[in-house]
Amino acid sequence: MDLVLLGAPGAGKGTQAKYIAEYYSIPHISTGDLFRGHLKEGTRLGERAQAFMSEGKLVPDDITEAMVNDRLGLPDAGPGFVLDGFPRNINQGKALDAMLRARGRLLDEVIHINVPHDALVERLVGRRICPECGATYHIRFDPPQVAGICNVCGKELVQRSDDRPETVGTRLSVYNEETAPLIAFYRDREILLEIDGTQSVEKVSQAIIQQLGARHG
Ligand code: AP5
Ligand code: MG
Repeated sequence: MDLVLLGAPGAGKGTQAKYIAEYYSIPHISTGDLFRGHLKEGTRLGERAQAFMSEGKLVPDDITEAMVNDRLGLPDAGPGFVLDGFPRNINQGKALDAMLRARGRLLDEVIHINVPHDALVERLVGRRICPECGATYHIRFDPPQVAGICNVCGKELVQRSDDRPETVGTRLSVYNEETAPLIAFYRDREILLEIDGTQSVEKVSQAIIQQLGARHG
């Protein structure tokens, strides 16, 4: 199953992608995580991307598309994938179509996780991540067992540098201007699933699996 998760920053794409990937045994491909991985390894690509990410802007399409195309070519993406954070504008949407067409594939579904603006700010500003294993928490909605410490590897949790209030505003504006037009783009193709992302994490997961099951058996 070839899937895309669409939603504003903080809508819960990463949280749900992890679950969907496990459920269907397909890889979770997050462009944000790929860029952060490059930055951690000190690659040139990571450095270039960081200049845009730290300001809450989109990394240029050519860099992003080449990275996604390489990732989709790895053997684990053969049976399908769940893309999180790509595409992020209409150009990237068209580029994804071309990448899939070249492999004789077609996008199956786009899952739009819909959350209103005010809830997004609280989710982003309260998010904490583990710098070691990438596990995600929320100080109020999903706190770790010991405050400030990762449940999985015991490391001290940190705030993502782009989750500071001044950057969050830019990210939400970029989403509204550049990414939100993809909703109509996929609705017109009748592959858009609308999910109410204001429910609990478990309810959102159930709604996604139920809707995918209803369309794909
Ligand atoms: P990326 O890493 O993709 O960030 P994003 O889109 O801004 O999304 P987030 O990861 O912030 O949110 P999410 O939807 O994954 O939410 P999460 O599950 O963590 O991109 C970062 C940057 O990289 C971009 O700004 C850009 O610069 C660059 N980039 C990436 N892709 C690009 C592309 N294609 N083109 C160009 N540039 C690109 O949840 C958020 C919080 O809420 C967590 O704390 C979680 O615990 C909590 N939460 C989740 N679900 C719920 C729920 N149901 N109820 C209560 N709390 C919840
Ligand atoms: Mg994410």
